[in-house]
Amino acid sequence: MNRKVTVVGGAGNVGATVARAVAHKELADVVIIDIAETKAAGIALDIYQSCPVAGSSAKVVGFGATDDGFAHTANSDVVVITSGVPRKPGMSRDDLLAVNHDIMKSVTAQIVKYSPNTIIVPVANPLDAMSQAVYRLSGFPRQRVIGMAGVLDSARMRTFVAMELGVSVNDVNCFVLGGHGDTMVPLPRLSTVAGIPLTELVAMGTLSQAKLDEICTRTANGGAEITKLVGTSAWYAPGESAAAMVEAILKDQKRIMPCSVFLQGEYGINDLFVGVPVKLGAGGVEEIIQINLTESEKAALLKSAGAVKELVDVIKV
Ligand code: 2OP
Repeated sequence: MNRKVTVVGGAGNVGATVARAVAHKELADVVIIDIAETKAAGIALDIYQSCPVAGSSAKVVGFGATDDGFAHTANSDVVVITSGVPRKPGMSRDDLLAVNHDIMKSVTAQIVKYSPNTIIVPVANPLDAMSQAVYRLSGFPRQRVIGMAGVLDSARMRTFVAMELGVSVNDVNCFVLGGHGDTMVPLPRLSTVAGIPLTELVAMGTLSQAKLDEICTRTANGGAEITKLVGTSAWYAPGESAAAMVEAILKDQKRIMPCSVFLQGEYGINDLFVGVPVKLGAGGVEEIIQINLTESEKAALLKSAGAVKELVDVIKV
């Protein structure tokens, strides 16, 4: 195939899920890079061997996170960074800050060296701060560093709404803005079931306000809920979410997706990665969609941005 997607940290759970989804959707050939060199080769071979069954012609290869390994990633169209220490039960995303920042430093240098024109999709936590670190370290324009969080958070909210109402997730659209942390901002007013806003469903008596509040809280704690149940952080939903972003970029789909991007005045936020709706296409972030928020929604978004700012200030990015 003539497209290449690299997944750094691809031998881990999230990375392998991204690699498999990209390969099975036949979006591109996939290069897996991981500090666990042998495992990277093995996971890649396993995914490659699943391609004939999945009906995909994608090739999948895996290498260690050495200079020789990264040489195989040259001229990638998209690089997804899933490297980083995963959360353990009781550990907050923020605890991961320093250790994952160091990992971003070495990984970003190699990505820029071998794929100076690529689009980077950071997935490592704390997501918004790591995206900002990668943006600063890469020197790329802001259109080409796009953090994965909102697609995942919205997917979780869609699932909870569908579960509650007994409808297909396909008829549910949810809007979640802000940082990928406990302060994220689910927006019921702009989240719909077959076009009907959740706030309207509350007014109609179809959904109780208490249930809606519960769904919003559960969404904000969605990552922690899985971590508690599984013993490590989630991978299927995060991996598929990153792959959906890769698909939007490679197919130039112009999809509107909530992503963590570097804001420069949009929503009254300056020089900070925060989740907002963007148009994703071949150029990466092709537009930042600015919607009118109510005063309370705006306040919640600024509060969430404040939480991100605290983290980026710690690592001085
Ligand atoms: C999550 O929310 C891993 O941050 C990711 O599950």
